[in-house]
Amino acid sequence: MKELIEKLAIEHDLADNEWQQLIEGKYDRTLLYARADEIRRQNYGTDVYIRGLIEISSYCRNDCLYCGIRRSNMHAERYRLSKEQILECCKTGYRLGFRTFVMQGGEDAYFTTEYVAEIVEEIKKRYPDCAVTLSLGEREKADYQIWYDAGADRYLLRHETAGRAHYGKLHPPELSYDHRMQCLYDLKDIGYQVGCGFMVESPYQTVDDLIADMRFLRKFQPHMVGIGPFIPHHDTPFAGSSQGSLEKTLTMVALIRLTLPKALIPSTTALGTIHPRGRELGLQAGANVVMPNLSPVSVRKQYSLYDNKICTGDEAAECIECMKRRVASVGYQTAVSRGDWCG
Ligand code: 5AD
Ligand code: FES
Repeated sequence: MKELIEKLAIEHDLADNEWQQLIEGKYDRTLLYARADEIRRQNYGTDVYIRGLIEISSYCRNDCLYCGIRRSNMHAERYRLSKEQILECCKTGYRLGFRTFVMQGGEDAYFTTEYVAEIVEEIKKRYPDCAVTLSLGEREKADYQIWYDAGADRYLLRHETAGRAHYGKLHPPELSYDHRMQCLYDLKDIGYQVGCGFMVESPYQTVDDLIADMRFLRKFQPHMVGIGPFIPHHDTPFAGSSQGSLEKTLTMVALIRLTLPKALIPSTTALGTIHPRGRELGLQAGANVVMPNLSPVSVRKQYSLYDNKICTGDEAAECIECMKRRVASVGYQTAVSRGDWCG
């Protein structure tokens, strides 16, 4: 496999059968992870960028089959944060050293385009040295433009799967693969640093779907790529499906690093949920971002996309300390900076 790993490191793409071997072949992954780590160090050194995640709403108009806050989950507890609460999270976060705030939420009509723009403006006014990232799902290009003009710097919108048929199996018919992809291109066109991403081993995912994901990343050239294992949520149609594995997720993290050497790649909470040292292992496989939770502890458990989510009981201060220790334990250090794309 050594030759294939090198080929990918140099050419950033492979033939189908080569991708297949690296994705699902039986081989010792040590070399793959080490090569990914080397490339990450060439581009970003040993810095790990921290993003303060503020989960602003658990209301969602969508009905994605995998997601615990899908609209037809009548058992989901719903909440939304006020502008004041969001600003309070930023205040705490700023003191703790965060220089990026990520506002993430379900697709909630309460957060109108104007209201979100107002909040973004206020955050940028109070913390001009911080980046604001939005992760609020699919909207029209004009809305994305308004948020960009208000000061938003980055946008996260996972494509979830680049396999069209697979997309249809994970989503209800009213959600369209083409619209989601259009959103990503619109965001990039406006000037955002854009993040896409997918779940690893979500129901019905084939190796061809993962190859399609890699090809899409290569073509789209996102600044950020967020991936994590699929984890079933007990109140969704996929309650009985099995969760994604640690090894497959780490393999995909490393392959993304080889494909997009400069990408900002988070070691996700989902990875930390399936293994006690999952996030540390993600960093060692090429990831260079962590996103500790800054949401008020009172609502943490209600932002439940999947079962057994970690870090739902800890204050932001404890969470960042814990994260710093974890990052240091594998030889990296958290950086107090915006952590922009290095390209
Ligand atoms: N398991 C893992 N990840 C999930 N997400 C949503 N539901 C799940 C789940 N059951 C991910 C999606 C979404 C992101 C916010 O969380 O990829 O884009
Ligand atoms: Fe949140 Fe450890 S990172 S408690």
